[in-house]
Amino acid sequence: MATKITWLGHATFLIETPAGKRVLIDPWVKNNPVCPDKLKKLGSVDLILITHGHGDHIGDAVEIAKELRPPVVAIYETALWLGSKGVENVSGANKGGSQVISGIRIHMVHADHSCGIQDGDHIVYGGEAVGYVLEIPDGPRVYHAGDTALFGDIRLIGELYRPTVAMLPIGDLYTMSPREAAIACQWLPSASQIFPMHWGTFPPLIGTPTRLRELTREIPGLLIHDLKPGDTRTV
Ligand code: NI
Ligand code: MN
Repeated sequence: MATKITWLGHATFLIETPAGKRVLIDPWVKNNPVCPDKLKKLGSVDLILITHGHGDHIGDAVEIAKELRPPVVAIYETALWLGSKGVENVSGANKGGSQVISGIRIHMVHADHSCGIQDGDHIVYGGEAVGYVLEIPDGPRVYHAGDTALFGDIRLIGELYRPTVAMLPIGDLYTMSPREAAIACQWLPSASQIFPMHWGTFPPLIGTPTRLRELTREIPGLLIHDLKPGDTRTV
């Protein structure tokens, strides 16, 4: 069995592992303007990972978690907030730590971004934004960078966890653009497949996979996926 990765648009991905586990990263589904309607009904989900508290990542987390009741991983303060909203089975963690859920080792890693949670008319401190590296048994090692600027320790993530697949934001304005993401690709030499994300959702998110391809032409064997929301790739 292979591992299947479906892009629901923006930073939201559904990963199906060889063991049949379904992992949802950044559950922005119902209110995600680019998520195809047919994918808005998720079916079973075995694990939810949240990179940070901005609405385009955590937006539908409470509703989905209450309906499907999988374990939910988030940084400690965001996990507390989810708990305060009635989400059960939340696993608060922090950067540098790892845990195993559904047989998958989940490393929480640094991201360079903010993490306020909009709750009604005020902003709640959500801890810090993070990324994840997932070690999928008999499958890839998947790095989801979350929303982030380029930072030097992406190199360390590459060295330590040797991800084989990387989901990198390229949209610009709130995150890296293709220019910075191209450097991240150089710093993740084990990652032979890149899933660009956080682009095209709104007009200001102007980075494109085509531009990232142009800027990484020198990296031998690198596959940059250019997906439409709803597309699936086997990795
Ligand atoms: Ni954000
Ligand atoms: Mn975002």
